[in-house]
Amino acid sequence: MVQLSLPKNSKITRGKTWNEAGQHDQGKAFQIYRWSPDTPDNPKIDTYHLDLETTGPMVLDALIKIKNEIDPSLTFRRSCREGVCGSCAMNIGGINTLACTKSISDLSGDIKIYPLPHMEVIKDLVPDMTNFYAQHAFIEPWLQTVTPEPQHEWRQSREARGELDSLYECVLCACCSTACPSYWWNSDRYLGPAILLQAYRWLNDTRDEMTGTRLDSLEDPFRLYRCHTIYNCAKACPKGLNPAKAIAKIKRMMVERKT
Ligand code: SF4
Ligand code: SF4
Ligand code: FES
Repeated sequence: MVQLSLPKNSKITRGKTWNEAGQHDQGKAFQIYRWSPDTPDNPKIDTYHLDLETTGPMVLDALIKIKNEIDPSLTFRRSCREGVCGSCAMNIGGINTLACTKSISDLSGDIKIYPLPHMEVIKDLVPDMTNFYAQHAFIEPWLQTVTPEPQHEWRQSREARGELDSLYECVLCACCSTACPSYWWNSDRYLGPAILLQAYRWLNDTRDEMTGTRLDSLEDPFRLYRCHTIYNCAKACPKGLNPAKAIAKIKRMMVERKT
């Protein structure tokens, strides 16, 4: 019988416990994944105890406090602090979400924080987004036209502009793609929900004139058709978007152009 076991250096060990001055193992515990390419050590979980009376309301506030006041080596991405840049995506309490819009008070017990799942880790909570961004570049996410440029802007009716609602709001955080089992196993070939939602954003833009070419580039057994409509992506999206629905609409466009 085949025995499967993880390599020794992939096992997560228990790390250090850090207390905010005066906390002495009281206060809210944040259990955070730590790994650095600069040491041969296994990944570990460090525990930080924070006084919530002096911590901001969001998980990102806690991470910033830890970095500023307790452990400057803790590494994570963030920029806007208001759910717009998508850079603070991580797995909090078992769910992919944005640390800056996730309220600490919504989480009971110790708060477990890991990097986005099934991505290579660069350090601590920072995943390697190289493949994800290359896939975004692949769908050529900009307006493409063949008719001569108008003197002023490309016009669009109010209704046509409305068709881009629930698509343009995507902040490319990758919470959906990293919650998608098909993407876990085939991220080298399947574009995943985030990128396909972006692809549909351009397919559905009445000003864009490259629909046929865009569909041709998705006509592939893996790039589009690995979506099995499991809907993890829609559940994971912190912006309330529905990538699975966008993917279904691309599939319908594929069928319609053949009939
Ligand atoms: S619906 Fe498709 S894209 Fe969304 S999680 Fe399921 S397989 Fe992935
Ligand atoms: S669809 Fe939602 S979860 Fe996916 S990348 Fe865009 S904002 Fe993030
Ligand atoms: S810091 Fe920009 S989305 Fe969280």
